[in-house]
Amino acid sequence: MIFHVLTLFPHMIRQGLGDSIMGKAIDRGVITLDVVDIRTYTQERHGQVDDYPYGGGAGMLMQAQPVYDAHRAVTGGKALRTVYVTPQGKPFTQKYAREFAREEELVFLCGHYEGIDERVLEEVVTDRISIGDYVLSGGELAAMVMIDATARLLPGVLGNSLSAQEESFHNDLLEYPQYTRPPVWHGRSVPQVLLSGDHRKVEAWRLEQSVLRTRLARPDLYERYLRKQQLICRLSGDKRNHIHMTESLKRGLGEILADQDGEILVYDRDNRICMLELQCTQHGGRTLAALETEAACDRIKEPAGESGSTGWEHLTGKIPEETEWCLVNQEPLVELLQKEGYRIFNQCSQFLYTLKEPLPVGHRDIRLLTMEHIEYLCTHYGEEHRSYLQERIESGSMYGAFVEGVLRGFVGLHGEGSIGFLYVEECCRRQGLAGSLEAYCVNRQLERGWIPYGHVVQGNVASQVLQEKLGFYKAGKTFWWLEKKPCN
Ligand code: ADE
Repeated sequence: MIFHVLTLFPHMIRQGLGDSIMGKAIDRGVITLDVVDIRTYTQERHGQVDDYPYGGGAGMLMQAQPVYDAHRAVTGGKALRTVYVTPQGKPFTQKYAREFAREEELVFLCGHYEGIDERVLEEVVTDRISIGDYVLSGGELAAMVMIDATARLLPGVLGNSLSAQEESFHNDLLEYPQYTRPPVWHGRSVPQVLLSGDHRKVEAWRLEQSVLRTRLARPDLYERYLRKQQLICRLSGDKRNHIHMTESLKRGLGEILADQDGEILVYDRDNRICMLELQCTQHGGRTLAALETEAACDRIKEPAGESGSTGWEHLTGKIPEETEWCLVNQEPLVELLQKEGYRIFNQCSQFLYTLKEPLPVGHRDIRLLTMEHIEYLCTHYGEEHRSYLQERIESGSMYGAFVEGVLRGFVGLHGEGSIGFLYVEECCRRQGLAGSLEAYCVNRQLERGWIPYGHVVQGNVASQVLQEKLGFYKAGKTFWWLEKKPCN
């Protein structure tokens, strides 16, 4: 990923990010830091870049021209996301860091003096972001904070790919306390449970500590955490039909956009997926249960009452605009979404593996795939999915089966967390390779405390049989993936 930084103090940025983890990531070429001195773009004879504000007031403002020219030089006219770091911006959070990490290039514009002429900001800036409710003497420190928080989420920046995921702000909880040698220091002992070697007890203790810390230090986060837990708890009453939502929430991907009046909307912002459900018994004069019967679903196509409305139309108004996919398991919602410009992508059954014990893996040579294998994946999964496959490899979510050292099949996790991509070459079928691949993938998820689940397109009998053979349960409802129709 390339970070372009437009600044009047280039040394500050280079020095600030030149050491430690960021410095190493730059040296290894995992990230590129392109620092641009705005002053070199001024047309003023004495290198001046600032002037007095019209209307009077304290201090000086950075002029539009050098900022604009520096920006043009960096982007070459490309529409790059450009962040103006300013105390007047939206608050920077982990969510922004995750969003930024999905960009290939990002421009940071650092202000100095009293700010920058508004006209150039209107022309080049896409986001105005603050790192907190305090005023720094310039934007450089704030830009470095955002670059650090973003870069450390990129594959290859941190040594251990799990460490970016299991820490403060993952799933709305602050991190638990940690201890290292010696076991007793200044008369203080390391909590006994951490020395017990009992992995489950350690996990439970850590969660308890995280919850405690969050409740005391960040009641706002704690409130969000509680809301999530309550919804997970309610949905778990019918686990099979809700595992897509509960796992999304548990894994820290989904956020609750609606959970009231019998309407649930969970949004996976990273993957732009909206999961909707109607739980109400009565809406627009009809019960959901009635609508879900086939006969009633036919009736929904006819005008309902005088208004022609089911009373649920407002639900679609809550779907974020940038949503690309919707996942639902109620036919009335499919129809509603179709009216909103979504088209059915496929119709599936949902399977979940609820046991805690790992599955036996018959085939021995199954490994995590790397970018070395991208061509194989593109050939067998589809060239049109190249960037998705690349992202899946880089996030450590693709596994391959090797026969005599040769890659012959693969499986992986989709962005929202379901198992998928399963493929085995014709020459190696009927040897248990597919089962081994999926079992391997299941085991990796169990290690993380997740409940493995997947979607099988209706009609794919071989895959359905495999899920059942591995011990997966099938949800009673049909699931629909709907894709937003491109508007052309
Ligand atoms: N520039 C000055 N103060 C700032 C802040 N709090 N956040 C972002 N940019 C800034």
